[in-house]
Amino acid sequence: MSKNRVSRRQFLSYSIMGVGGFMASGMLMPMVRFAIDPVLQSAGEGDFTATSQKVSELTDTPVRVDFTIEARKDGWYESDEAYSAWVYKSGDKIVAFSPVCKHLGCTVNWGGDKNHPDQFFCPCHAGRYTKDGKNVQGTPPIGPLDEYLVMEKDGLVYLGGTTPNTLV
Ligand code: FES
Repeated sequence: MSKNRVSRRQFLSYSIMGVGGFMASGMLMPMVRFAIDPVLQSAGEGDFTATSQKVSELTDTPVRVDFTIEARKDGWYESDEAYSAWVYKSGDKIVAFSPVCKHLGCTVNWGGDKNHPDQFFCPCHAGRYTKDGKNVQGTPPIGPLDEYLVMEKDGLVYLGGTTPNTLV
């Protein structure tokens, strides 16, 4: 008999380790993919959503643009999600801000405070932002408004994901 012969005990150990490893990898792969998936995704044209806002109608005064991202899949649940943005023109550039306040997440409005008609105003705790999204010192927000990625196509404003403010 050869000395390298695998004993029944070793065979069972190897088999159990193999099956256990296979099952563990089956459980870990979705978790790893879930964790790193956003990093692997590139921002292609498909990541932008069409809005009904015509570029030609934009001025230097922010207007609220509502849009819907269709059928976002969350596990087995599919739903449309409603979003809005404050959009205006700054020279040739189209600027679009997320309306989510950087204090506690309420929705900001343009010109919502009659004492500061040229600023974004958060009604929850009187937070204010200048037109470039910068939080006004002495009010609760702790950072500037996020920007949306913007694309123009067929004369319409298309909006992508949000990024940190690049204007301030
Ligand atoms: S949530 Fe906007 S100021 Fe508090």
